[in-house]
Amino acid sequence: MGFPVRRMRRLRRSETIRSMVRETHLRPEQLMYPLFVQPGTGRRDPILSMPGQSRLSIDELVAESQAAWSEGVRSVILFGIPPDGSKDAVGTPGWIEDGIVQEAVRALKKDVPGLLVATDVCLCEYTSHGHCGILHDGDTHGYVQNDESLEFLAREALSHAQAGADMVAPSDMMDGRVAAIRDTLDDEGFEDVALMAYAAKYASAFYGPFRDAADSTPQHGDRRTYQMDPPNAREAMMEMELDLEEGADILMVKPAMPYMDIIVRARANFEVPIAAYQVSGEYAMICAAEERGWIDGDRVMLESLIGLRRAGADLILTYFARRAARALAR
Ligand code: PBG
Repeated sequence: MGFPVRRMRRLRRSETIRSMVRETHLRPEQLMYPLFVQPGTGRRDPILSMPGQSRLSIDELVAESQAAWSEGVRSVILFGIPPDGSKDAVGTPGWIEDGIVQEAVRALKKDVPGLLVATDVCLCEYTSHGHCGILHDGDTHGYVQNDESLEFLAREALSHAQAGADMVAPSDMMDGRVAAIRDTLDDEGFEDVALMAYAAKYASAFYGPFRDAADSTPQHGDRRTYQMDPPNAREAMMEMELDLEEGADILMVKPAMPYMDIIVRARANFEVPIAAYQVSGEYAMICAAEERGWIDGDRVMLESLIGLRRAGADLILTYFARRAARALAR
């Protein structure tokens, strides 16, 4: 039964009918807001390659999170920028009790009740060499030692949990880190802290602006020996299966738009919530084209987000979280 009996346009004639048959919805509580926290007070240093985003001192982070909460955003994920000169080979500023993220978590849990506070767990922002784990002494290639790194990642996650984090999100891509973190949290009485694994995280050029913002570019080498090779899709399913077995509650795909096929497959293969991270480069491209007047920024933003929902993402980590929440309220 085709045309002229079947007329697809009948259900597109008005906004009313379109809204009645709409298959996918985007709501502010599906958005997680990534924020960069740095030492100091009253500091809000704009990140040039990420228009509208800043590195925030803790007081400004609290204000930003309160504003986001009042607009309907329900969760944030924190990235830390440690004090100048504090980085070392094992990422000590990342796992000490009074580190920048740990203090930020305490402030948010006190001042923004209800807000879900997640933390990114990785060493790259805290190591002098900028890699996501531990190197052997004298290594000039940046070959991260997997098993030696696990202890430090677990320490970092534990320190976040002790500060009050609701969720930890390891992004380092070491093998076995989900199990190491889950075991440590459970042993220390933090069995209720959720774990969102950056499960299928690709070695992507789309992270460029983030590395400027977080000051986490590797000094030598790159991340291709631990992050995934962009052409691979089956391997992503294996990564996700392993993280699920090791105890992940939520599985993430990152970046988002260039990897939508991975989101579709993840949704079809696993019954846990799937998250997609619309990363800094995706954000920057939309902002840059908007600044040039080449696209309608609000519409492209919303289309990029609903597309990820349609592909199967339950949650989306996006720098657009506040702006999208405001747009959805109009
Ligand atoms: C690593 C980490 C990165 C991002 C989130 N966590 C950078 C990297 O792997 O180099 C990228 C996020 C973005 O680009 O928005 N800790």
